[in-house]
Amino acid sequence: MRIFSGIQPTGRKHLGNYIGAIRQYVESQERGDPAIFSIVDLHATTVAYDPAQLRTNLYDTTATLLAAGLEPDRCVLFRQSDVPEHTELTWLISAVCAHGDLNRMTQFKDKSGQQKDLVSAGLFIYPLLMAADVLAYRTDEVPVGDDQRQHIELTREIARRFNERFGETLVVPDHRIPAIGARIMDLQEPNRKMSTSVGADSGRIYLLETEKETRKKLASAVTDSGREVRRGEGKEGVANLIGIYAVATGKTEDEVEAEFEGAGYGDFKKAVGESVVEYLAPVRERYPEIRADEAGMERILAAGAARARELAAVTLAAVRAAMGVGVPRG
Ligand code: TYM
Repeated sequence: MRIFSGIQPTGRKHLGNYIGAIRQYVESQERGDPAIFSIVDLHATTVAYDPAQLRTNLYDTTATLLAAGLEPDRCVLFRQSDVPEHTELTWLISAVCAHGDLNRMTQFKDKSGQQKDLVSAGLFIYPLLMAADVLAYRTDEVPVGDDQRQHIELTREIARRFNERFGETLVVPDHRIPAIGARIMDLQEPNRKMSTSVGADSGRIYLLETEKETRKKLASAVTDSGREVRRGEGKEGVANLIGIYAVATGKTEDEVEAEFEGAGYGDFKKAVGESVVEYLAPVRERYPEIRADEAGMERILAAGAARARELAAVTLAAVRAAMGVGVPRG
């Protein structure tokens, strides 16, 4: 089974990224043939950014993934811009993607509203590059958080339309969205997903922050005026913490509710804090040594890109042939 996912090298990765996506990447190394992961630096150029910072962020994200448990011998890990097949395929599949479909993407609507100076064309075609990332590897399964659901739907639609128009060439991929923790919410504004780009720092847990910071943020997470540790209407904050605790301890949400029956929010939030500190400890501990070795990371990324190019080149040759572009194949 081919597994592919991408992650942006933007800012510091947070608990939402980890629970929604990164932990799934680590598990999927077992099942993937191969499991392929890309740090999507080209996607990061679609909003205002600083080139030097992008390089730094790329290493931060690479080191985070390695610290979380991606092993270069068991997966393919590479930088998106090292594999030009992605950008070529973006153009080619644009032939079967409707402008109206891109216009409907909620992420485009959100992000374009946040841009001060320029809404780039790149931001508009972002989902096409993402579809190309996935389709280039004839991917069966894409582990992502819930916020990427619409993009994966579009990717499926593009693959179907391509196959109808040009003959069976592309694989229609499935998403793999976790049952618990697919949408980790902001700790201060639990009606909004945890995100690097919106809201105050107190609303998100960074993977690499200190234990003290993590404990403090969870202790002051917004709950509600009730007293029961239960999911339900108007209890988004509590429900979010129940989900986080369930993932961090490997329990079900029902078990968590039973465990804290009769307990107050204070005790519950304290327990959530401890569980998250422990859950993230391995990543935090392994990170500094990996991050210090940029040359080592470049070697891993170069080897990953070489493998990725071999795989993507096969798809690209088939796509070009099906579309009638380039030198005819004999
Ligand atoms: P990115 O970099 O924003 O996020 C990386 C992964 O983290 C998940 N995620 C969350 N999961 C649960 N709760 C949250 N609050 C939360 N916030 C983020 C995301 O769903 C994602 O899986 N467009 C993608 C990157 C991408 C990609 C791809 C993904 C580019 N090409 C191909 C899959 C396949 C993105 O911006 O993810």
